[in-house]
Amino acid sequence: MKILTVYYTMYGHTLTLANSVHEGVNGVDGVQGVLRRAAEFDAVDKIIDKNDFARGVREQQQDVPVCTVEDLRQADGVIFGSPTRYGNMTAQMKQLIDSTAELWMNGEMEGKPAGVFTSTASTHGGQETTLLTMMAPLLHLGMIIVGVPYSTPGMIHTEARGGTPYGASTIAGPQGELTPTEEDLKIAMVLGRRVAETTLKLRR
Ligand SMILES: Cc1cc2nc3c(=O)[nH]c(=O)nc-3n(C[C@H](O)[C@H](O)[C@H](O)COP(=O)(O)O)c2cc1C
Repeated sequence: MKILTVYYTMYGHTLTLANSVHEGVNGVDGVQGVLRRAAEFDAVDKIIDKNDFARGVREQQQDVPVCTVEDLRQADGVIFGSPTRYGNMTAQMKQLIDSTAELWMNGEMEGKPAGVFTSTASTHGGQETTLLTMMAPLLHLGMIIVGVPYSTPGMIHTEARGGTPYGASTIAGPQGELTPTEEDLKIAMVLGRRVAETTLKLRR
């Protein structure tokens, strides 16, 4: 059984979360985790060329294949990660989702569990709006949304960090200077494990 974790990142925070989600997936017996990245736009690649930090993040991902429609087709469950752009997912992730018309027409994603995760610059920069709006196209595709239950350690908190019932998250800071907290990473692992376990149960 294959569980795909597909993410987009520019400054690495969503990549760090994706690695934890993927680790959570791979911790479930009988499941093969697949890690993919959303394709970058040529125009953004040219901007990244001039930014040392973003170039380094791009280099870190050279071995991660770009996600294809076939990867989505082959997956039994999918977890999507995108940084926030104005309270919504990135165009790069939306482009991938918008390329699924054939999968939608054939009902190929119907009944597959899905989870979502995100990164914002600021505390109230739109984690919930991003996660909830990422779910809308997944519901159109007939996927079954899996969140993070409040029984997960670290879910009830008041400090500035990630972790929501809608999906995993982290706060990157206005200059991207923060790194995901231990709790953010553990919650991301729980999301990966929960999507994998739910997929196994449904398949049985
Ligand atoms: C065009 C644009 C719009 C953004 N909009 C938001 C926003 O609405 N709220 C917010 O907190 N951060 C916003 N950010 C900051 C990104 O969410 C932040 O850089 C990202 O979470 C870092 O994730 P990454 O390291 O995976 O790239 C925006 C960034 C860009 C470039």
